Amino acid sequence: MDCKIVNGTVVTATDMYRADVGIDKGKITQIAKKIKEAAGEVIDARGHYVFPGGIDIHTHLDMPFGGTVSSDDFETGTIAAAFGGTTTLVDFAIQGKRKSLKGTLKTWMKKAEGKAVIDYGFHVAITDLTKKVLAEIPEMVALGVPSFKCFLAYKGALMIDDGALYQVLLKCKQAGALVMIHAENGDVLDVLINDLLSQGKTEPKYHALSRPPAAEGEATGRGIALARMAGAPIYIVHLTCKEALDKVKEARDAGFPVLAETCPQYLLKSYRNYLEPGFEGAKYVMSPPLRDKSNWDVLWKGLASGDLQVVSTDHCPFNFKGQKDMGKDSFASIPNGAPGIEHRLVLLFHEAVNKKRLGLNRFVELVSTAPAKLFGLFPKKGAVAVGSDADLVVFDPKKPFTISAKTHHQNVDYTPYEGFKGKGVPRVVLSNGKVIIRDGKFLGQPGTGRFLKRKPFRLTA
Ligand code: URP
Ligand code: ZN
Ligand code: ZN
Repeated sequence: MDCKIVNGTVVTATDMYRADVGIDKGKITQIAKKIKEAAGEVIDARGHYVFPGGIDIHTHLDMPFGGTVSSDDFETGTIAAAFGGTTTLVDFAIQGKRKSLKGTLKTWMKKAEGKAVIDYGFHVAITDLTKKVLAEIPEMVALGVPSFKCFLAYKGALMIDDGALYQVLLKCKQAGALVMIHAENGDVLDVLINDLLSQGKTEPKYHALSRPPAAEGEATGRGIALARMAGAPIYIVHLTCKEALDKVKEARDAGFPVLAETCPQYLLKSYRNYLEPGFEGAKYVMSPPLRDKSNWDVLWKGLASGDLQVVSTDHCPFNFKGQKDMGKDSFASIPNGAPGIEHRLVLLFHEAVNKKRLGLNRFVELVSTAPAKLFGLFPKKGAVAVGSDADLVVFDPKKPFTISAKTHHQNVDYTPYEGFKGKGVPRVVLSNGKVIIRDGKFLGQPGTGRFLKRKPFRLTA
C-alpha cells in the first residue's frame, strides 16, 4: 500500500466515523477501523477530519474578460485551490464569436496542460449560437463536457437571447447535459448603466446600483420558465438574493429540476463594501454584485433547506493595481470578478460548521459531494469510498487562521477577506494519492492534474 491515513475521523456527506484509510495507486483501497498492513507513507490524522477533496465547479482561470485576463492561470490557480483543500475544479471555457465549441475546449485544454496540479474539467459557455454550434452539443457531451453556461447578462459581449437559450435547453435535454445560467436581465442593466454614466455617476458603488436584485430575480424566473417549457433541468450560477431564491424555491416546490449555487462572497460581504474609501470598492466589483446584508440569512436558509445545493467560488481574480484600476473613471470599465478559490472551505467551515448554521455532513455535501454528483464526477470524486480517487483532505478543525493577500497563494494583490479570522484548516491535501500540501508547503508538480471526462447529467443530488 502506498499510503495510509490513520486515527482520523472520516466525514462524508452522510457519515462520520473513526477509521483508517488505505491508498494504493492513486485510489482508496481500504477503509477499516485499523489498517495493519504496512504503507509507504503513514499520515497521522489524530484529532483531524478526513473528508473528500473540495470540488469547485465555478472558476475562471486565465480567462480573457473585460479587456484583460484573469490573473491566476492553471498553475497558480490550482496551487491556490490545493492550499485551500480543493482537489478538483471545473472551469469555464468561453466560446469566442464565430468559434466552435470543440475549438473552444481545445483552447482551454491547452491553457491547463502542463500547468494544473489538481484534476480539472470544463463547462463551455455558449456565446454565439448557430445551427452548427447547436449540433456540437452531443459531441461535447461525448468528450466529457456535459454542462454549458448561458449568459443572460453582459449585453454586446457574452449575452445570448431567450430564443438561443431555449434552443440550448432543448438540445441539452436530449444530449444529457445541464444548462447553467448567469441570471441578470442584460437589456435592462444596459439601460441602467448608461443612465448612471450619463449622470456622471462613475464610482464602484454604481456597479451595484446598476444591477438591482429585481434584475436577477427576473432573469432567474425567466430562465426557469424557459427550462420548464423545454422540460429541461437548469442550474443557476452565483445566486445572490431573495428575489432569485424565491423563483428557485417556487419551481422546486412545484417539482421542477431547478438547481442553484451561491458563493462565499454573497454570504459574507455586502453592498457596504462598495462604500470603502477611495477606489477600494472596485475590489468587490463582480456580477451579480454584492447585495444588502439582509440576503445573508436568506442564503444560509437556502443552503440548510436544500434549495441551494452547491457552494462554489466564481473565482475570477483581477489585480487591484493594473487591472481593477482600468475602471478608475467608470465603474463599467472595472473588470468583473474577485478571487476566492483558496478560501472556500475554510470560510464555509468556519461560518457554517463552527457557527452551527450547518452540520459537518452538509458542509462536505455542499463543497464536494453535491457538485461531484451534479457534474458527472461521483463517485470517482466527492466520496471517501473504496475505489474512489484518493483526493482527500486531512483537516485540523482547531487550528486558527487569518486570511491575507500577504500570505495567500492566489496570484492577485488583494483578497476580499483581508484580516478574516477563523478556525479550521487543511493540514494535508492529497490528489490522486499523492500528498500535494503538507503543513503549509506545496509538494505537488505542475502538469500532474488530469482532464476529467465527466459523465452525462443525471439528477442525483
Ligand atoms: O463578476 C464575475 N462573476 N465574473 C466572472 C464571470 C461570471 O459572470 O461568472
Ligand atoms: Zn456569471
Ligand atoms: Zn463566473
